Amino acid sequence: METNILYRDNRIMADPAQTSHRSQYFKKQIWAIGGGKGGVGKSLLSSSLAFALAKQGLSTLVIDLDLGGANLHTVLGQSPPQRCLSDFLNGTVSELKDCIVQTQYPNLQMIAGAKDDLKITQISREKIKFLLNQIDQMKHQFVILDLGAGTSSYTLDFFNFAQVGIITALPEPTSIENAYRFLKACYYNRLLDQPQFESIRPLIEAAMTPNNSLGIQSPQQLLNEVNFQNPTLANELKNSIKDFKPRLVINQTRSQTDVDVGFSMKSVAKKYFGVDLDYLGYIEYEPNVWQSVRRMKPILAEYPHSRIAIHIDRIVNYLLKQARIEHTLTD
Ligand SMILES: Nc1ncnc2c1ncn2[C@@H]1O[C@H](COP(=O)(O)OP(=O)(O)OP(=O)(O)O)[C@@H](O)[C@H]1O
Ligand SMILES: [Mg+2]
Repeated sequence: METNILYRDNRIMADPAQTSHRSQYFKKQIWAIGGGKGGVGKSLLSSSLAFALAKQGLSTLVIDLDLGGANLHTVLGQSPPQRCLSDFLNGTVSELKDCIVQTQYPNLQMIAGAKDDLKITQISREKIKFLLNQIDQMKHQFVILDLGAGTSSYTLDFFNFAQVGIITALPEPTSIENAYRFLKACYYNRLLDQPQFESIRPLIEAAMTPNNSLGIQSPQQLLNEVNFQNPTLANELKNSIKDFKPRLVINQTRSQTDVDVGFSMKSVAKKYFGVDLDYLGYIEYEPNVWQSVRRMKPILAEYPHSRIAIHIDRIVNYLLKQARIEHTLTD
């Protein structure tokens, strides 16, 4: 395994000889890329973010957690590796790290997704917990999780597990609608995991059901209902909304109006859900993408000076800046 990082205490420092001046100290971070809808660019974004981090000299692992349609290895230009997530999930290998493969790009490693469409009902909750635990043990500076479409509970678990959860959406009504649905589902999933909200579980479950009899359609309405029943708990709920900081990327923009969709979604999330949605930026529609996919080359490797490369770098640098600030604050 090629490595160019030095470990000091619980800090990880990029080797100065191999990195740009910008990659200094970071605590390990896990970024998850999700979004309600299929085909919105989750894999393109995951692979590109991972590629850009690795290019900055930061040791990066990208994991394909799309249990229903794994294809990240193709996006990264790798042939299907011998070991993949299925081997861990079905117990052929006991350690997730045994599924890691080095890509042809320095600092970039990958765990390929499940070979066959796995029926999630066949994977126990314990196994998912164990998987997350193993992901947490990884020694890379950055771990990027490429999630599947939809709002299944394990996808929400993966998203909420990451320090940085990025929702990807296209500037199209169906995709936007799905993104809001995903946002709400993530938020409720977080609440279900917190013991202090056990007493309002029926209310949370009602909120998760479309057209529920209580008429709760948003986190804000849930808060109003809880405030009515238990004002003290409502305060805690308010704080938990503050802790939820999902990020947003709008993909395949073709105009300023498309770019502005991100800003409108940010205001809607605040106004109706009470959630601070951090709009990280947009990625333009890039006609060359299909060529790089067909040649099985990551777009950033094939077109390092494309507009996509510029947009991805912008997003990565913004997130790295946030990671540095967080590191300073928690140190
Ligand atoms: N900015 C872009 N410009 C042009 N084509 C794009 C762009 N982003 C994604 N695509 C193309 O859109 C298709 C879907 O992208 P991708 O596979 O990344 O989506 P996904 O959300 O991971 O899909 P799934 O839910 O099926 O896993 C791919 O063919 C990809 O090359
Ligand atoms: Mg995908």
